[in-house]
Parts: sequence; structure tokens; C-alpha cells
Amino acid sequence: MKVLVVGSGGREHALAWKIAKSPDVEEVICAPGNPGMAAMGRCVDIGVNEFAKLSALAQHEEIGLTVVGPEDPLSKGITDHFAQEGFMVFGPTAAAARLEASKSFAKEVMQRCGIPTAESAEFTESEAAIAYIREKGAPIVIKADGLAAGKGVTVAHDEDTAIEAIRMAMESKVFGEAGHRVLLEECLFGEEASILAFSDGSSVLPMASSQDHKPVYDNDQGPNTGGMGAYSPAPVVTDELFDEISRTILTPCIQGMAEAGTPYTGVLYAGLMITEEGPKVIEFNCRFGDPEVQAVLPRMNNDLVPVLLACCNGTLGTLSLDWEEGACVTVVMASGGYPGAYETGKTIQGIAEAEQEIGAIVFHAGTKTANDALVTSGGRVLNVTAMGADIPGAIANAYAAVERIRFEDAHYRTDIGQKALARLGK
Ligand code: AMP
Ligand code: GLY
Repeated sequence: MKVLVVGSGGREHALAWKIAKSPDVEEVICAPGNPGMAAMGRCVDIGVNEFAKLSALAQHEEIGLTVVGPEDPLSKGITDHFAQEGFMVFGPTAAAARLEASKSFAKEVMQRCGIPTAESAEFTESEAAIAYIREKGAPIVIKADGLAAGKGVTVAHDEDTAIEAIRMAMESKVFGEAGHRVLLEECLFGEEASILAFSDGSSVLPMASSQDHKPVYDNDQGPNTGGMGAYSPAPVVTDELFDEISRTILTPCIQGMAEAGTPYTGVLYAGLMITEEGPKVIEFNCRFGDPEVQAVLPRMNNDLVPVLLACCNGTLGTLSLDWEEGACVTVVMASGGYPGAYETGKTIQGIAEAEQEIGAIVFHAGTKTANDALVTSGGRVLNVTAMGADIPGAIANAYAAVERIRFEDAHYRTDIGQKALARLGK
């Protein structure tokens, strides 16, 4: 079978890498892909939102399965388009992807299904929102309703910051339409964890736990990014909590979506705060986490392709997942300046040497080829990933690989995985 992977980041490279290992797969085609993906498949220069061109490619290449990485095409209906054209596609419909694309829709589903989450209120007028902030006080969390490329959330520790966030979203419209509606949310305290789960619309099969590192600098300092690194498993998610998350969050969500006539198939990503009262949902996403999946997939012993097909065919209930003992850590190497302005076109050296380190794989996130050289082309450039016998081992292997790689102004966090060590008492 030929498999088409839609996207061009580290998440899609990890997916293509795992899919290419399947004995059932004769070729992986990536659209648009990146230089790392070109080493394990064929890249075709079609953008993720060019649905007609993508389905024409699927037709021409006789693609057996299309796997969609990013949220943008999902929320714009790529799955609906492919299904209408008669192609097998992994990812939720636009109606189901609203779980990520509209935070107020997600809240409505959580309230209806009794899923634990932060208390919240929704506003379309800035004056009413500001009055609510004055009444509730800080800390308080301000969220633009729509997709804002990971930038629509402000955790405000004082009222002035909260009010400024309202003005930016609702009056200056810095997130465009995404900020037309705003949610004000109770601030949750605890440690965060991500659970990604496969679903076929009725069954749920959670993957191993993981933890992201959103702020750009060590010790969670500085502005939030798309994610500066991840590890799996996350010791904060004990076996008992894992079952509780499945029972109180994942299963009710999938059931609720089916009952509402918008069954959810694909990957459901639950971003959680493990609070003193138990796990609560911070957000749902409609796709694999990036960079979480880069730390999860290397631990998966199953062939990924039958699992993806079972999600599409409604037969997930017959499968189970098997995980490699040990741990995986991924460190994001970013362009200097990210998540603010940064330069691109810096020559990257040392990837082959990095991959000589024990257990290491380097996923490309923002790279391109220029004049036969590999250069930076995005904020998050590489996901330097390594397996290890345990979390300390995986951390050591991942940073040994990081040290082999060079590009001008490269920036990375040096503390990926430290929270796991603290929890493990190491
Ligand atoms: P999101 O884009 O929804 O993932 O939010 C980005 C980050 O903001 C999350 O990873 C959390 O660190 C933080 N956050 C979002 N909602 C809350 C909340 N209700 N309480 C505390 N922190 C939050
Ligand atoms: N790592 C956060 C996300 O994928 O949304």
C-alpha cells in the first residue's frame, strides 16, 4: 500500500518514519514534506490546504491511506473532502475537529458529558469580559475561541494583564476572527501531561503518556512556544490516573461526540492539568501532539498502519497497543529569537553524527535544502530524539546527540525531562 502523509513538520516526519517501517507499506509520499521526510519517502510540493490537488495525487498514486498531521486542514474539512472522493483518510471531520477549532464548542461538549475541566465563561463583548475579570480577579486565563497558532492563550497573574489580553483579542483583533469570541477560565494548578488517544468513533485506545515543555527557556521561563521538547512516559500519570483519564475524559468525550451526531475518528489529544482534585482538561486537540508524538511513536512496538486503518474502519476495539519499556526524550532545537522574530537560511551540520549516538533519531521540523546544503527554514528546526533504558538514560542520549548538531544562533532548553526526574526522585 502507498500512504500519503500531509504536513511538513517534526510530527509528520515522525509519522512518516514510523509508517515507513510497516511491512504493508510500499511507499510513503509526503505533501509537502521536508528534507528529513525525503529520506524515507517521496515529497510532492502540494500545500496542506490544497485539497483538490491532494485528492488528485491520491487518485493518481493509488494511495491506500492518507494521514493528516496539522489541525488547519482538518478544521477546514480535508477529511470530509477525501471521504467524499472515496479515499481512506485518518483524521476527524471538520465537524469533529471543532473540539480544537472552537474552545467554546469544546467546553460545551465537556459540560454536556460531565468531563472535568476549568470553570469558564464566554464573551463576545469586551466590556462584559472586563467586568467579569474585575469580579473574579486574577489569576485568570484568557483564551481566544478559534485557532490562533498556539498563541491565543494568556495566563494572567494580575487583572491589568488580563484586561490587556481582552483588549488585544477583542478590540485590536490580533488573532483576527479567532478572537471574536473569548473564554475566561479559572486558572488550574498542578503538573501538565498530554494523553493522545486513537479513536474509531466509538472505541478509544490511549497511547503512552507524555509531557510537553511549552515555555521557551529553562525552568518554564519566557513566552509559550509550540513546544520545546517532550518525554514519554510522564511519571505524573500513574497507572491509576491513566485509567481515570480514560474513564472520566476520553471515553465520555468520544461517546458524547457520537451522540451529538459528529463521531470523532482519528487522534484525540487531551491536554491535561493533574490537579489536587484529579485530572482536568486544559484543551482538546484534533491531531497528534507536536512534539509529544516524536517522543511517543519511537516507543510504540505495534505497526502503526493497522492501528490507523482500524480507526478508519471502525475496528479499533479489536486492537491493543504495546510499548517499549524505557523512555524517549525529544529536544527541540530552535532558531535564535523563536517564538519571536528569527532568521532562517542557517546551514545545519552534524545530523549524521548525532544519529550515531545511542538510540538517537533526528526529526526535521523547519529545514529545507538550498544549494545542496541543509538550512533552517522555521522557528522549530529539529527534534533531536533518543530512546533510553529510563528517563535519565534517554535524557543523556538525547543531549549527547544535540551536542553534535550545529547551526548559527541555535537555541534549545537544557532541562527537558527534569520534571520527570524530580517526580522519580532522581
Ligand atoms: P493551550 O493553548 O490551551 O494549550 O494553552 C496553552 C498553555 O496555557 C497550556 O499548556 C497551559 O500551560 C496554560 N493554560 C491554559 N489553560 C489554563 C488554565 N485553565 N489554567 C492554567 N493554565 C492554563
Ligand atoms: N505540543 C502542543 C500541541 O501539539 O498542541
